[in-house]
Amino acid sequence: MAPLFVKAKAPAKINPVLEVLGKRPDGYHELALIFQTIELHDVLTFERSKDELLLEIDSAPPGLSNGDSNLILQAAELFLKRYPQKKEGVLIHLTKNIPLAAGLGGGSSDAAATLKGLDNLFQTRSGLVELQRMAEALGSDVPFFLTGGTALGTGRGEKITPLPPAPDTHLVLVKPGKGLATPNVYGSGKAVFTSGEKARSFQKLLQEKKLPSLAGSLFNGLEPATFFLMPETQEIKKRLLEAGARGALVCGSGPTVFGITGSRAEAEKIAGGLQDGGRTVIVTRTVPAESK
Ligand code: C5P
Repeated sequence: MAPLFVKAKAPAKINPVLEVLGKRPDGYHELALIFQTIELHDVLTFERSKDELLLEIDSAPPGLSNGDSNLILQAAELFLKRYPQKKEGVLIHLTKNIPLAAGLGGGSSDAAATLKGLDNLFQTRSGLVELQRMAEALGSDVPFFLTGGTALGTGRGEKITPLPPAPDTHLVLVKPGKGLATPNVYGSGKAVFTSGEKARSFQKLLQEKKLPSLAGSLFNGLEPATFFLMPETQEIKKRLLEAGARGALVCGSGPTVFGITGSRAEAEKIAGGLQDGGRTVIVTRTVPAESK
């Protein structure tokens, strides 16, 4: 029997490698990037209801709308339009732990969790290809979160190739007080274009089980753009490295900077020294794809 209630975790991500290959005629950028899910996650619940579609935010940082601009509602509307025979309403609850406009993929992950959650709730058995089609329409990062774990993204980031799990890694995330809008970062003219070789070599090392640590393979072609738009991020990276992080990088389009550490204790020690200036500092770690 179809369940009346479904609970889902929506994890955040980091990108140990993000290469911008070129600008496309459709205005997007061609990418080769590595995605990795992390322990930090939002929690969503989906409940059948007699009313219309409704999103209730139980806890979140200020500034998150429960209206149409929220990707959760856009995902739910897309799903319900695809299956018009599902006449019931849905009540969605969200506990938001992932910082907003941070480069951590929180909105995209919530959208993917919504597609999967409604597929479970209504037992539509959409299959990955159909879910992927809907995910692509919602945003470039959304398809990755349908499977999570470690993956290569190509195209505008929506074409996903699952990879073997990356080494288990402890992380410190540091997000400045303000967020950044992704289009501004891509549109700043400061991104560095590369050939895709770094993403290819990361993929090869993983497949040959020869990647000892993420720290030696970090690269992000958007980092100069994030540094330009928010110089504080460059300072945060410097401080993470001075405090003993083994590597540090702007995450996606930023402005979060992640630092790689050797243990949880090391991560907590480094985090303790960076709690100032209205920043959000989070200790977390990489996680593999959720088993079915
Ligand atoms: O796909 P998504 O809606 O997440 O993209 C948000 C914006 O980020 C796009 O409108 C575009 O300005 C920029 N972007 C890009 N190239 C990509 C992904 C995003 O230029 N591969």
